[in-house]
Amino acid sequence: MERREFLASIGSAAAVAPLAKAHGGVPVGRAAPDLPMPPSRDTMPMRPEPEEPGKLLLDKAWQFHQGDIPFPTIKGHGWTYANAKAGQAQGAAAINFDDSDWPLVNLPHDWAVDMPFDPDANPSQGYRQRGYAWYRRALRLDPADRGKYLELQFGAIFTNATIWVNGSVAAHNWSGYNSIYIDLTPMARFGDDLNTIAIRVDAERMEGWWYEGAGLYRHAWLVKRPAVHIQTDGIHADPRLDADGRWTVPITASLSSILKAEAAATLVATLSDAEGRTIAAGKVETRVPPLGSAEAKLELVVPSPRLWSVSDPNLYTLRLSLAGPGEATDRRMLRIGFRTLRFDADKGFFLNGEPLKIKGTCNHQDHAGVGVAVPDAMWEWRIRRLKDMGSNAIRCSHNAPPVELLDACDRLGMLVMDENRNFNTSPDYMEQLRWLVRRDRNRPSVIMWSVFNEEPMQGSEAGYEMVRRMASEVKALDPSRPVTAAMNAGLFAPHNVSQAVDVVGFNYQPGLYDRFHAAHPNVPITSSEDTSAFMTRGAFQTDAANHVFASYDDERSSWGNTHREAWKAVATRPFVAGAFVWTGFDYRGEPTPYEWPSASSFFGIMDLCGFPKTAYWLHRAQWIDDRPLLDLAPHWNWAGREGEPITVMAMTNFERVALFLNGRPLGEKTVDRFEMPRWLVPWAPGRLEAIGYRAGRQVARSSVETTGAPVALRLTPDRTIMAGDGEDAQPITVDAIDAQGRHVPTAQLPVRFAISGGTIIGLGNGDPSSHEPEKGDSRTLFNGLAQVIVRADARRGPLRITADALGVRTGQASIARVEASPRAQVAPTPSVQTLEGWRQSPASPEKPDPMRKPVDSDMNSWLWLGTGQIEAAQGEGQWMSLRATFTARRRVQANGGTLRFGGIVGRAEIWLDGRKVAEKPDFREAPLDVAVPAGSAEHVVTLLVESRPGLIGGLSQPATVGAK
Ligand code: GAL
Repeated sequence: MERREFLASIGSAAAVAPLAKAHGGVPVGRAAPDLPMPPSRDTMPMRPEPEEPGKLLLDKAWQFHQGDIPFPTIKGHGWTYANAKAGQAQGAAAINFDDSDWPLVNLPHDWAVDMPFDPDANPSQGYRQRGYAWYRRALRLDPADRGKYLELQFGAIFTNATIWVNGSVAAHNWSGYNSIYIDLTPMARFGDDLNTIAIRVDAERMEGWWYEGAGLYRHAWLVKRPAVHIQTDGIHADPRLDADGRWTVPITASLSSILKAEAAATLVATLSDAEGRTIAAGKVETRVPPLGSAEAKLELVVPSPRLWSVSDPNLYTLRLSLAGPGEATDRRMLRIGFRTLRFDADKGFFLNGEPLKIKGTCNHQDHAGVGVAVPDAMWEWRIRRLKDMGSNAIRCSHNAPPVELLDACDRLGMLVMDENRNFNTSPDYMEQLRWLVRRDRNRPSVIMWSVFNEEPMQGSEAGYEMVRRMASEVKALDPSRPVTAAMNAGLFAPHNVSQAVDVVGFNYQPGLYDRFHAAHPNVPITSSEDTSAFMTRGAFQTDAANHVFASYDDERSSWGNTHREAWKAVATRPFVAGAFVWTGFDYRGEPTPYEWPSASSFFGIMDLCGFPKTAYWLHRAQWIDDRPLLDLAPHWNWAGREGEPITVMAMTNFERVALFLNGRPLGEKTVDRFEMPRWLVPWAPGRLEAIGYRAGRQVARSSVETTGAPVALRLTPDRTIMAGDGEDAQPITVDAIDAQGRHVPTAQLPVRFAISGGTIIGLGNGDPSSHEPEKGDSRTLFNGLAQVIVRADARRGPLRITADALGVRTGQASIARVEASPRAQVAPTPSVQTLEGWRQSPASPEKPDPMRKPVDSDMNSWLWLGTGQIEAAQGEGQWMSLRATFTARRRVQANGGTLRFGGIVGRAEIWLDGRKVAEKPDFREAPLDVAVPAGSAEHVVTLLVESRPGLIGGLSQPATVGAK
C-alpha cells in the first residue's frame, strides 16, 4: 500500500489536478508522504534551563542487585546492642556491605522491562515478573559542602522503598508515584569519608492494574543549597487576574534555615518575558528561625501579559534569589504562564474567557522499549504526537506524572488533569496529595486536580466525606483550580462524591450526561474517561483466535463506546466540558479483552510505539478544523482477496468525498464527521483514491496503493540532530519499502540493528502479543513498522544506525550529534570498604595486651566509636587499644589486599589476626598501609596507640580495605 495524504489549503492553487495526474495537489507535512509518521525535523529537543544551580543529577553508576537480600539473623548481646544504634543497619543496608561485584546501572531504570514475558506473571502488569531489588551508591561530598543544606531527591521509586543513608533509615516510601526528598545534612560525611545510600525496592506491591515497572525509574538528584534557603517545592507563584482586570503574580516562598541562630534573609523576584526582558521585580525581607521555617511573600504586578494558551503557550521566567547571611545566595528559576480557566455548568470549559472543548486522552506512563524509564526527550515527543492529532489535554491516569511530562505540556500547550493515586485520607496519603499540589500548582498547563479514579466508595457517605477532606487540603494549597473525581457510578446516590467536587468527572456512562445535568444544572461536568475501544494498529480484519482487532472503530468494550460514539456524545453537549479518550497510547498490561499471549492493551489511539492507528486519523479529522485532512483505511495490499468486498473508510474534515479505484468512480458521499464515510469495494490491485470537496470544490486527494514486495529497509528518525549531552534520546521509525520506494504495510521482517555514536535503549513494534525482548539489537516489523529508541553519546559527531533483514537492502540513518553541555551530574564514586564499628579500650599507662577485647555483655567499659566518629581522643601520654573486625570483600578475599589507615595520630602498633604487622614509630599524623592476606575468614585488627604527652591520639581518617 501507499498511503498518501495530500493536504492543500482550501481555495489555493492546489485545486485538484485531473485524476490522470494522480499525484496532483500539494503534499504538506510529510517528508516521506507514504509513511504514517511525521517527517524528520531538524530541531533540537527542548532543553530546560537548570531550575537551581546546586541541583545535580544523581543518575549515574548505581550498583544494582536484582532479587532480595535477606537481613542477617542477629545473635549475641554485643551485635544486638550495636544493631539497635543509628548508623548500624545490617545486611545490604549496611555501610560496608560488599556490593563491589554488582553491575552498574544508570537512571532512569526500570528492571521489569528487562524481564522476559512470563505466562505465570500478572496480565495486568504486562506479564512481567518484578519482585525485589537493591540499589546502592557511594557518594563523595566535597568538604566545601560542609555547612550547606544537602538534600537527596528521587523522582519516584516503584513501588515501596526503604532508603538508608550511612546505615540509618532515611525514608520509608509507600507509593511508586511520589517524589522522595531526604535531608542529608545532619548525617552527611565529607571528603574521603564516603556516604552510602542503600535502597531496598519492593516492586511486588502494586498500586494499579496496569504495567507499573520496577525500580528507580525517574531521575535522582543531589541538591546543595545555602544554609538559609528556599524549600523544595517551596514556591507558590501562580498568576491571578483580579476583578479589576489587573494581573499579578502573588509569590510565597517557604524558607528554611539550618543555622544556629535566627537569620535575616532577602528574597528578590524578577519576572522576564520570552525575549528575556525583565517586566516586573520585587523584594521582601524576612527572618528565618534556626532549624525553622518562614514564609516570604510578595506580589508582582504585570500589566497586559501575553497569555498562555494551548495554541500560544507563552511562558514567562520567574527568578527568585534568597540572600541570607554571608555570601551564599539560593536561586530558583521557574516558568509560569498567565491564563484564566473556568468550568461553566452550561457551557463547559473556558480558557482565557474563550470556550474551549477539551479534546483529551488518558495515558499511562510507559513506552515501547523503555518501560516506565522514559527519557525526558520522549515525553516531549509523546506530547507532540498528541498535539499533532489535535488533542489539547492529557489526563495523567491514574497517578502523578513525571515533571518532564509537565514541562512539555507547559511548553507545547497541553492542558493537564493532574491525578492523585491513592484514595485514602490517612496522614501518609494526604501528604502524597499535598505533595502533588505543591509540586505542580505553578504550572499553567495544570487545570484540575483529580483526587481519584473509580472508587467503590464513590456513592457512599464515607466516600463523600473523604473527598470533602481531600478537596479541602487541595484548596488550602491551591484555591485556583477545581477538584474533580473520576466517577463510574454512584452519581445519583443520596450521598456521593459528586457533591464534594467542583467538576464531576464521568468515566463512561454517556447515557447519564443529560440526566445528571437536568438534576444538577449548576454542576459542571466533564468526561474524565470515555471510549475504551479496541484496535490493532495496521490490522483491518478481526481475528479473535490471534487477538487481532480490525481498525475500523467498530470494536469496543462492553462498558465503553467506539471513538465516534464517545466523541459525538461529548461534542454535541456544550455542558460537557470535554472528552478524555481511554487511551492516547497503548500501554503494557490490561490486554483487555484478552490475556496471554497478549501482554499490552488495544485501547490506544496510537500503539505502544506511538504509531497511529485508524483512530489517530479519525480524531485528527474530528478535532482539527483548520488543517484539511483526508486519509483512507485500510491499506491496499490484499493479494488473494481479489473481488472480495473490502470496507473502506475515509477520515476527513471535508464536506464530501468521492472514491475511485484505478480511476473508476465508486461513489461520492457527504461526510458526517461524527461517523465518517464508508464504502464496500471489491478488491483489485492498484490505486484507491479519494477526492475531498469543500464548498463544491475539489481541494485534496489521498490514495493508497498496492505495493510490491519489500526490497529495502528505511530508517526515519524523528529529528536529524540530537544533543550530544549523553541524555538526548529519540525514536526512529523502521519500515520496509518496495522497488518504488513505497511503504509496505504488510511487511513482517525480522530486523537487526547496528549503531555507533549512540546506544539502543529500547525496541518495539506495537504488537500487543509480541514477546520479543525490548532490549538488544533486533526487532520484527509488525504490520510494516518497528521502532528503535536511541540515546546519543556525549560530544559532537554522527550517530549512525543501520538496519538489516534477510533479502532486502540495508536501511541507514545518520543523525548529527551537536555539541551540548551535559547536565551537571554527581560523579560516579566507586564504593570502598571502610572499617566501621571500632571499639576503644580504656586508657592505660602501659601498652595494652593486643589480644584483649571487650566482654560481649559490657557495653560501657570500651567505647563504641560511632559511625563517622573517626577521631578517638584519649588522655595525654597514655596507651589505648582500638579494635575492629571485618570480612574483606570478595576481590580481596580472592587475591589479598591492603588495609589503609588514612591517618593515625600517635605512635602505634598494628596487629592483624593476632600478629603484629606494622609499627608507626613517631607521634605525627601519618597514613599507614598493611597487607591483608587472601581468605574469607573474619579479620581482627587492633591498633595500640600511644599518644604524645599533652595531645590526643587515634584515627584521624577512615581506615579502608581495598584490592591490591
Ligand atoms: C476504566 C479504568 C481504566 C481502565 C479502563 C479500561 O474503568 O479507569 O484504568 O482500566 O477502564 O477500559
